[in-house]
Amino acid sequence: MTEPCEAGTRGARARVGGIEMVYDAMGKGTPLLLVHGFPLDRTLWAPQLRALTRRCRVVAPDLGGFGESTGSAPYSMDRWADDLAALLAALAIDRATIAGISMGGYIAFALWRRHRPRVRALVLASTRASGDAEGTRRRRRDTIALARASGAAAVADAMLPSMLGATTHERRPEVVAAAREMMAHAPVEGIVGASEAMLARPDATPTLATIDVPTLIVAGDEDAIVPLDEARVMHAAIAGSRLEILPRAGHLVNLERPAAFNHVLEELVAQIES
Ligand code: MLT
Repeated sequence: MTEPCEAGTRGARARVGGIEMVYDAMGKGTPLLLVHGFPLDRTLWAPQLRALTRRCRVVAPDLGGFGESTGSAPYSMDRWADDLAALLAALAIDRATIAGISMGGYIAFALWRRHRPRVRALVLASTRASGDAEGTRRRRRDTIALARASGAAAVADAMLPSMLGATTHERRPEVVAAAREMMAHAPVEGIVGASEAMLARPDATPTLATIDVPTLIVAGDEDAIVPLDEARVMHAAIAGSRLEILPRAGHLVNLERPAAFNHVLEELVAQIES
């Protein structure tokens, strides 16, 4: 495996949108902004930071309210998108490929809506354009109540079975442990604020037909949170998009099948560089 390029910083800090945002920025080349999901942090992208820095300038921030970044509610997809656009500006990055997983995908749609000139290409991983069905809304309200009553570790235990695919649960205990650890350390205020923000987010379906940059859609065929049909709907609606369904991967597809995920992402980068 190629080792990371030395150029870069881990745990750098930028003042954006009234918060202190902590981020890793590694490598040189085509800018790639990695947007984590819920209730996670930038360490989710460790396999991408290791492999993609040979040709990309990879920026992986903690969203406001998560990881080491500061923040206070109310959050929204728009607010996080504005923070990320401000981070790109602070780093003098005019345009970047935006790769968002799950909630990070909801934020990628907001970046596209609000900061289109900054978006060179999109990677939509384990995400959906549609708004929440009633069952999902109930799940979010349960998560808020559980976080307030019992803390992040209880949320991690409740979410872990569905966050990873059956294959990972059976064969990769180290990935299961890493995912649980990340979720168990999420700030309760971040869990509550992000759940409320997801409940309030707009349906991004009308946005899909406006996307005219290279777009890669990635899903794991064992994803228990976002049905595969959501990926197919996005693929059908985004002209020229590419759909990759990775076998033996669940919701955290970049962590569960890192080599396959990195490979398709590198192919997208090669496409936009050519
Ligand atoms: C995520 O991984 O970001 C969440 O599962 C998204 C969601 O609950 O819709």
